[in-house]
Amino acid sequence: MRGVNTWETFNAVLARALSDPSPPDAIVATGDLVQDETRAGYEKFKQSLESCDIPVYCIPGNHDAPDIMNEVLSEPPFQVGGQARHGNWSLIFLNSFSPGDDGGRLSQDELQFAEECLKTDSATHALICIHHHPFPMGSRWLDGVGLRNSAELLEITDRFQHVRGILWGHVHQASDRRRKGIRLMSTPSTCSQFRPNSDDFALDARPPGFRWLDLRINGTIDTEVVWLE
Ligand SMILES: [Fe+2]
Repeated sequence: MRGVNTWETFNAVLARALSDPSPPDAIVATGDLVQDETRAGYEKFKQSLESCDIPVYCIPGNHDAPDIMNEVLSEPPFQVGGQARHGNWSLIFLNSFSPGDDGGRLSQDELQFAEECLKTDSATHALICIHHHPFPMGSRWLDGVGLRNSAELLEITDRFQHVRGILWGHVHQASDRRRKGIRLMSTPSTCSQFRPNSDDFALDARPPGFRWLDLRINGTIDTEVVWLE
């Protein structure tokens, strides 16, 4: 894609993360796993990750084919959407895929699912993962394809004190800020990046990357972005 062999950069990112002295307990793949909507694409993704022996949580993005994704990634270590527990943390994976739209939307079912998880789960801390950005990135073209009903999501998260972070993909750039004590993070792409604050579509020269998340027992999130120079 745009001169990048995304299969190679994805595998390079994965190798880098897995060879870390303290390797990950789980992987969150924040969507747009496959661009061409082919079963073969998801099979390749599966092939790369199935020997990892750690959970791989996946959420669909605008470029995904959710039906094929659900079929191919239906068995452990893969999980598409839903919820997971790690220690005293609850991870909630929301599906913002909206057919025919590069922007995202959470259905009423999905919003209700988020609310139920936050209401009934006894976990002390919660992290919400979603493909589309619920907050403007300051980039006109990208902000035209964000999460269209983010106000409905925030109306829910604002009611629960134990939401510690919201994490998204989609924007091909790293960002990290806070709102009402909640950590808001985007993660870079495993292929090419988009130029931050650009009104029109533009690529950034930054290399492929990924984000570490250390979910601490006290509810803080230690996080760092790694760029594959
Ligand atoms: Fe996307």
